[in-house]
Amino acid sequence: MDKVTQSELPARLERLYRSGLSIVFVIARDPSAVIRAVFASQIETRWTWGPGRPFSARGPLPPGFNGLSQWQDLPHLASLPWAGPTIGVITGLPGDAPDAGYFADLLDATSEEIRGRQAPLLLVLVLSGGLPENYRHIGPVLRVMPPDQAERADIVRGLAEKNQIAASESAIQESAQALSGLEAGEIRQIVLSQLAGAGTLDPEAAGAEKARRLASGGLLEPIRVRPVAVGGLSELKRWLQTRAQAAQRGLPMPKGVVLVGPPGTGKSLSAQLVAGTFEVPMVRLDFGRLMGSFVGESEKNLRTALAQAEAMYPSILWVDEIEKGLSGSGSNGSEITRRLLQYLLGWMQEQTGVFVFATANDVSALPPELLRKGRFDELFYVDLPSRSEREEIWVASLDRWHIDPSSVDVPALVSASEGYTGAEIAAVVSDAVYESEGSLTTATLLSAVKSTRPLSNVFPEQIQSIRAWGAAHARPAGGSPEPVGASATRFRS
Ligand SMILES: Nc1ncnc2c1ncn2[C@@H]1O[C@H](COP(=O)(O)OP(=O)(O)OP(=O)(O)O)[C@@H](O)[C@H]1O
Ligand SMILES: [Mg+2]
Repeated sequence: MDKVTQSELPARLERLYRSGLSIVFVIARDPSAVIRAVFASQIETRWTWGPGRPFSARGPLPPGFNGLSQWQDLPHLASLPWAGPTIGVITGLPGDAPDAGYFADLLDATSEEIRGRQAPLLLVLVLSGGLPENYRHIGPVLRVMPPDQAERADIVRGLAEKNQIAASESAIQESAQALSGLEAGEIRQIVLSQLAGAGTLDPEAAGAEKARRLASGGLLEPIRVRPVAVGGLSELKRWLQTRAQAAQRGLPMPKGVVLVGPPGTGKSLSAQLVAGTFEVPMVRLDFGRLMGSFVGESEKNLRTALAQAEAMYPSILWVDEIEKGLSGSGSNGSEITRRLLQYLLGWMQEQTGVFVFATANDVSALPPELLRKGRFDELFYVDLPSRSEREEIWVASLDRWHIDPSSVDVPALVSASEGYTGAEIAAVVSDAVYESEGSLTTATLLSAVKSTRPLSNVFPEQIQSIRAWGAAHARPAGGSPEPVGASATRFRS
């Protein structure tokens, strides 16, 4: 799959035409942009047709031709007396199972007809989701990428200047950043409505509007990235830092990381860390939400969701609790989720620019193919926090309530909370804050610690088995893991 920008598209299609190709797929969120690109090309005859779209054409056409009346007529196109070089853009092709097999046959026949007759005809088939598996062999695939940061900034700056509104360069850059992933037309709409309404740029509102538009299908949830204090996980932090610096030097983003560990150890919190370190937008994919009631609907939803995430690149795709979707619900639920997972893994290999951050705590539910090397870059294990990690978590948790850590006996709290997760420590602090009625002391905190029974104490076997699994199969996310039976080995080795 090739990526092209909107402005490269006309020349690209012309070249494909000249190479004698009969069918090309173009994946674009906005089909009108593809139609505009084709009509802007130098090919003599250009026409477009699609269900629910008026037929329109430029250049000479075979007599009486004004689009298709039914999909079955597709192969017949090749036999029409085309006068010269022709590109046709067809939108609205049903791209989804259970019909995909039928349409793939139709497209095969069409492509064969065009080649057989040497008709000077290239068909551009526009899809807005991803490409169905059945279509893959039929023709090359171009993905139209939305404008990059510099192009977005140019659009915003241009509109501000045209409307004689003074905007600082930093407001322009921030707005451009907030609008990543949108098409030029959408960016113009949002910025123009701000300039016409409030008379000024508002990056935050622009980001909210983008989130609203991108999430309109409800498959991806835009996540607001905020600075967070995460205690421990020093290896994960270091790993992310080096990758983020490499990305800044132009190296590709990592493809993905899986983070496993007991409940409450800060896995979900770490998603913020990932997005913050890479300084890119983040969206959450909920496997459960993809499930449709019709055959093939879940796959279609996943394809659409991944295409949306890819359009926002560079971005973080956060798949929280990936095993929840995988254990499946109904009788064939697990079969569907397995297929979804296969698709996700295949997609990860192909795409660049989206970093998949997956978390899980029930490792027994994870299928082996998820963990096989070469799929995700790394599998990290978050253990129960060590002494020094608990200290960092106590400090971060107190900080969140604006409590000066030097006003309490942190070492005593650290000792008293052995076996507690970050979530349990955070909960202890908030309980104590409410109980103390304004005068928080070490004693209040210690009594809150005592009245909390940590999970590692309630379900020692389960926690122990997660820990043993992590130590044996994954790379420690923390600095110095405390030994749990087997010594820690690297995922890759
Ligand atoms: N390492 C940590 N540093 C600071 N706070 C933490 C840490 N770990 C957990 N917390 C606190 O606990 C809360 C819950 O943690 P989080 O949701 O990230 O756990 P989790 O590992 O995703 O758990 P689960 O497996 O149940 O989803 C966080 O929002 C934070 O307040
Ligand atoms: Mg979580």
